[in-house]
Amino acid sequence: MNKDIERVLYDRNRIAEAVESLGKTITEDYKGKTPLILCVLKGAWIFHSDLIRAIDLPCDVDFITAKSYGMGSQSSGKLRILKEPDISLEGRDVIIVEDILDTAVTLSALIHILSEKQPGSLKIAVLLDKNLGYEKKVKADYTCFKVENEFLVGYGLDYAERYRSLPYIGVLKREVYQ
Ligand code: PRP
Repeated sequence: MNKDIERVLYDRNRIAEAVESLGKTITEDYKGKTPLILCVLKGAWIFHSDLIRAIDLPCDVDFITAKSYGMGSQSSGKLRILKEPDISLEGRDVIIVEDILDTAVTLSALIHILSEKQPGSLKIAVLLDKNLGYEKKVKADYTCFKVENEFLVGYGLDYAERYRSLPYIGVLKREVYQ
C-alpha cells in the first residue's frame, strides 16, 4: 500500500463489482436508447472508462473538463470549465459521470451549464457520494458508494494531482494535506 494512505476503503474487486452492477442497471434503464456518457475530467476518467464497458448498449462518449479544487484540499466554491463537450447534447439522453459528489459545487454548476444545451434527459452517475447536505443540494441518480467525510484518493481521485493511479480508493493520511 502507498505510504501516504491511512487505509483502503474499497479495493479493486469491490470497485469492479459496484461498477459492473451499475452498468447493468443503466443498461436496463436505457434499453432501446443510445445514451451519451459524459465524463467529467479528470477525476472521473477511470470510473468512466470502466463504466462504459459495463453498459451493454450502443452509447456515445464525450468529455468535459471542470475544476473547482486546484491544488488545495478544499473547494474554491467556483467552477472553471476548461473543455466543453464536442458532441451536441441537444435532444440526447446524457449521463454525467463524476467520481465524487462532495460539496456539490461542481455538479450543481454542471447541471445548470448542461441543461442550457437542451439534452433530452440529464442524469448523474457518481462513484462516491459524500452526501454532505451543504447549501448546494444535488441528488445523484446512480451511486456506487455512499461515503463518510474523509479525504479520499485513488481510482482517479487526486490530491494536488497525485494518487490518481492507485487501483483502490483509500483514505489519505491527514499529515499529507494539513
Ligand atoms: C473534484 C472531483 C469532482 C469535484 C467534486 O474535481 O473530481 O469533479 O471535485 O467536488 P465538489 O462536489 O466539492 O464540487 P477537481 O476540481 O479536484 O478536478 P479533477 O477532477 O481534475 O480532480
